Amino acid sequence: MNYRLSDVLIDEQRLRGRVREIADEIGREHRGGELIVIGVLKGAVLFLSDLIREMDVDICVKIDFMAVSSYGASTKSSGVVRIVKDLDTDIKGKDVLLVEDIVDSGLTLSYLTRLLKERDPRSLKTCVLLDKPDRRQVAVRVDYRGFSIPDEFVVGYGLDYAGLWRNLPAIYTLRTEA
Ligand code: PRP
Ligand code: MN
Ligand code: MG
Repeated sequence: MNYRLSDVLIDEQRLRGRVREIADEIGREHRGGELIVIGVLKGAVLFLSDLIREMDVDICVKIDFMAVSSYGASTKSSGVVRIVKDLDTDIKGKDVLLVEDIVDSGLTLSYLTRLLKERDPRSLKTCVLLDKPDRRQVAVRVDYRGFSIPDEFVVGYGLDYAGLWRNLPAIYTLRTEA
């Protein structure tokens, strides 16, 4: 199946506004403290970058990344989560914020929160730009949510189809080509 870009679902201005609101919310809770912000490669990279840039300068922000893979080149989750890169940081006793671009089935986030909790952080919160509640297979706690979206395949602002379109500054839906 061939896909092409369809409509803009969330434009740059709405993204920027919401990212600022979330950064403010996080800032109120963590001012003066240290926060380890963990991005899930590769999709969370753009969101994480913009989010930490908007955070209060009084938060001591450190970043780290994990890479997992579940989708590959398909638009459907395989349901299998595999760790490709682990953290470099010891999160024991730390305040941790796990950042994702999207929560779909919930398998990735559920797997990662379980894994990170075992490492005994002081606190662990989740921050997700996009939530597709209609597709949830496992319950996950989302502490900071950007937008709730309908069950459509979306790309841009970190989200890809077969590795493409992550660089787009807005969120687009895809349509199939006849
Ligand atoms: C996508 C997305 C989330 C996950 C959400 O990642 O970035 O990490 O799937 O799906 P789930 O809730 O059904 O688990 P993907 O595996 O495509 O890797 P990527 O971030 O490198 O694109
Ligand atoms: Mn991802
Ligand atoms: Mg992907």
